[in-house]
Amino acid sequence: MSLDTAEDLFEYELRGVYYGERQLVDTLDELQTSATESTLVGGFADHRDETVTHVERLERVFDVLDLEPRERNVPTFDALREEKRAADADADDEAVQNALYNHVGRKAERLELTGYEGLLALADAIDLDREAVDLLEQNRDEDEAALAELESVSEGAEFESFIDRLL
Ligand SMILES: [Fe+2]
Repeated sequence: MSLDTAEDLFEYELRGVYYGERQLVDTLDELQTSATESTLVGGFADHRDETVTHVERLERVFDVLDLEPRERNVPTFDALREEKRAADADADDEAVQNALYNHVGRKAERLELTGYEGLLALADAIDLDREAVDLLEQNRDEDEAALAELESVSEGAEFESFIDRLL
């Protein structure tokens, strides 16, 4: 696609976020399966289910805007899964692995949030359909909450006792 207007840029970024959310369903699945710290497992499982809803909301955004729901490959999202697999290969200790999984999850949320912030700034500039804006804001808000939850997991008692074992 040619990128000449703010609308083109919006669609380009929307396709990238769509790709990212779809990738994250699988990445969160892998994180949930591998993690052993219970609040982390629960957090990944809940957010995986939310992410399925995020994909559906983005499909609704494409629909509302009369655009084809197409993905644009964003290698930074692929790298998150590679990083998770590197944690499996490089760390033997469960506590270390859980800490690394938490960091991968937090990077994923920050990456998504950057995408939504960019989309919402553009949405404002191009006076985007209100329903589409609402859907994007719902996804952003849930990703913000997921990030906050992952941050609080690494301050929780169970996580700290894992880390204490390393000291
Ligand atoms: Fe999301």
